Amino acid sequence: MSPISVRRVAVLGGHGKTGRAVYGALADRGVDARPIGRTDWPDLAGAVAGCDAAYVIAPNLHPDEPAYVASTLAALAAAGVGRVVYHSVASPYAPAMPHHVGKAVSEDLVRRSGLAWTILQPGAYLQNLDLTGPPDLPYSPDARFGFLDLADLGRAAAVVLTEDGHEGATYELATRVATVRELADEAGVPVRRVPDPGTHAWLSAMFAYYDDHGLPVGTRVLDALLGRG
Ligand SMILES: NC(=O)c1ccc[n+]([C@@H]2O[C@H](COP(=O)([O-])OP(=O)(O)OC[C@H]3O[C@@H](n4cnc5c(N)ncnc54)[C@H](OP(=O)(O)O)[C@@H]3O)[C@@H](O)[C@H]2O)c1
Repeated sequence: MSPISVRRVAVLGGHGKTGRAVYGALADRGVDARPIGRTDWPDLAGAVAGCDAAYVIAPNLHPDEPAYVASTLAALAAAGVGRVVYHSVASPYAPAMPHHVGKAVSEDLVRRSGLAWTILQPGAYLQNLDLTGPPDLPYSPDARFGFLDLADLGRAAAVVLTEDGHEGATYELATRVATVRELADEAGVPVRRVPDPGTHAWLSAMFAYYDDHGLPVGTRVLDALLGRG
């Protein structure tokens, strides 16, 4: 695909772990990436002014992600930022998981925003698992996931932000398909199934869903985006 003229990109949530991966991959391409954090919110339109595009990451378990996304889209429109890439999740319309549904509703807002949009639907990050020791897992170690490496996410985000042909596209992203037990075996550590700690009702709902269904995602779209085998 040909490059398009994108010199400056606002990365909302750019100081978090997802944002840093996107920011780093953009910087590698010589794009001026501008991380936007909580302190920028009082004047969001001012903070994104002068950017050609925005990558929008909502905070983890935001209590009202559609409101966060709606405010962001309004600020982008007010500032004349014509292009948006929204960081969603794999299987957003899963009614048993409220935070996924928040992303499904937000996807609809993005598609109807009037901006040039692309949506990425990442699988669970490989980096969520600490395999330097036995991981404690509150869901089945034998559930199948499409896991995503954050470095791949950054590269895919940079591709859709800076190359043409991605406007109006929704892409599921995974680096590899595996169970946690398979990853733990490779790392040479046992996996421990533990009870749900009950820290957040939405996480409990997610663990129950993972138990029954995992979160499968295919790998071919990411390979195509990154020009891999
Ligand atoms: N973990 C996964 O496997 C996975 C998979 C798919 C999708 N996701 C999605 O990825 C997203 C971000 O994850 P993450 O782990 O990168 O998050 P994170 O490290 O917690 O970063 C969140 C960022 O959001 C900003 N923020 C926090 N509260 C805010 C608020 N009230 N208003 C505006 N900005 C606020 C923070 O800004 P400051 O720097 O100012 O504090 C921070 O930079 C979530 O939407 C999650 O659902 C995660």
